[in-house]
Amino acid sequence: SSVEGNVCILDELKNIFEVAITSAYPNLIDPPIVITLSGNNPKFGDYQCNSAMAISQLLKANNIKTNPREVANNILNKTPTSPLIERIEVAGAGFLNIYLNKEFAEHVLNCILRFGVKPPPLKRERIIVDFSSPNIAKEMHVGHLRSTIIGDSICRVLEFLNQDVLRINHLGDWGTQFGMLIAHLQDKFPNFKTHSPPISDLQAFYKESKKRFDEDEEFKKRAYACVVNLQSGHADYITAWKLICEVSRQEFQKIYDRLDIKIIDRGESFYHSRMNTVVKELKDGGYLEDDEGRLIMWGDPVKHDGIPLTIVKSDGGYTYDTSDMATIKQRVEEERGDRFIYVTDAGQYTHFVIIEACARRAGILKSGQKVEHVGFGVVLGEDKKKFKTRSGDTIKLIDLLDEGLKRALDKLIEKGRDKVLTPEELKQAQEAVAYGCIKYADLSHNRVNDYVFSFDKMLDDKGNTAVYLLYALTRIRSIARTAQISIDQLLVEVQKSGFKLSHDSEWKLAKVLLRFPEVILKVSNDLYMHSLCEYLYEISSTFTEFYDKCYCVEKDKEGKIVKIIYERLMLCEVTARIMEKSLDILGIKTVSRM
Ligand code: ARG
Repeated sequence: SSVEGNVCILDELKNIFEVAITSAYPNLIDPPIVITLSGNNPKFGDYQCNSAMAISQLLKANNIKTNPREVANNILNKTPTSPLIERIEVAGAGFLNIYLNKEFAEHVLNCILRFGVKPPPLKRERIIVDFSSPNIAKEMHVGHLRSTIIGDSICRVLEFLNQDVLRINHLGDWGTQFGMLIAHLQDKFPNFKTHSPPISDLQAFYKESKKRFDEDEEFKKRAYACVVNLQSGHADYITAWKLICEVSRQEFQKIYDRLDIKIIDRGESFYHSRMNTVVKELKDGGYLEDDEGRLIMWGDPVKHDGIPLTIVKSDGGYTYDTSDMATIKQRVEEERGDRFIYVTDAGQYTHFVIIEACARRAGILKSGQKVEHVGFGVVLGEDKKKFKTRSGDTIKLIDLLDEGLKRALDKLIEKGRDKVLTPEELKQAQEAVAYGCIKYADLSHNRVNDYVFSFDKMLDDKGNTAVYLLYALTRIRSIARTAQISIDQLLVEVQKSGFKLSHDSEWKLAKVLLRFPEVILKVSNDLYMHSLCEYLYEISSTFTEFYDKCYCVEKDKEGKIVKIIYERLMLCEVTARIMEKSLDILGIKTVSRM
């Protein structure tokens, strides 16, 4: 399984110890297989199997006299030999300390050098990722920015693992707000059907119509009539609606282009007719209850837990709940999804829990199908209050990205990079740093927490930031450049001499690099991207330690190269590749010089 160098060591060890434990204790049903990393102390090995304690408890509960050390020894005796493992020791209260085999590690690194960074195998599934999803005519706010960044990165890791990913932008393009927008459009640009209205600031346009809606009864009535006309598909109203959506969509696209986000537009309007179908189905199935004129549905029919969905309002209209029921049905039946991921602020958690419960109850969702709400906290300003401009306005995303660009350039100039780089390189570095730092700051924090948006912190080149990592990477890349060695030469040289990890620091770095598949699989499963960021930071600091102790290229007093240690250059190359792949999964562009 390790021919391509993509083996997940943690999973391999789980398999090995499952064999050992079931053959040592064939009568135990579902024995716990607990494998973890050993942490920083080398005397505990590289990984540990901690099953012996729990198994000993289980046996004692069955009146079998034993102790964890005895259990550990029994497991050890049944452990099959494996190329991954150098040796296993029983230690302490009954831990099994596992030491990895160096030759195996050398083989894996060799594979990465020859074939590139390959994903560990994972059963292919159809995964629908609903992310970004701003609302038409309203502003795309920092919450949507979080959803966009986190959602894109989730798609990237799943795509790397060869999953069948559908990236959906569930735009809020079908609400009652369109009534007042259309009514205002009719007044302001009467010939909108023939001449595209020059709406440059849709937010202002929204505010204007909202003001009229709140203050003018006559206008309000017309707005309601517009909604009815729109919903019944009246051509002029559809034209007006499309126009407004298009203006909004172009604004959103500017953000997506800058951040290199690919996404398919499929807003709430897409489910318009499907809502009728799902409502009928739920009615016919007897799932709906009358509650003072509105039709509601409980996720749990017996317990009546929490809050119900409102499927039909008392005026006959549909809600956000109705549209999400139609949406999940479409994703199950038409898209044939296995996994349904929704990336929104943590506040919508309950909404999706109830949607899932109702979809299961109605038989829309089948048992193998998973609904996952990827929630995230609020973005705060440096004053720990809601993120606003100094004058108290909400911050426009485009302005935020522009400020990022400006600050990134300042930072590069402060470091004197403008004197070293070509204008083209400087521009690339500026963009990589600006967008990279915004994305990384978001992704490197546990997403469920609120996070403080601070350009100063994210542009710091010390600590776990994109700038630090991008510099580290260019430094690694420059080592091979100094040695004037190409990958092909490196391969030939290493093949000649045979690749050997000798120095302790080399071995330590190699073991960190070997964990890439397990980190990727973990992240693809729990969808917490910050583990990948922590891993990147660990690679980079372990590399620094290695590079402090192990020179790769030796030069004489005149600066002439006198010796090149090819294995170490190879370690540099593998480190760089894994860092690049990880950054790519985070949606961060790398540069060769900065
Ligand atoms: N438009 C919604 C908002 O801005 C997010 C939509 C999330 N997706 C969904 N299927 N409900 O809060």
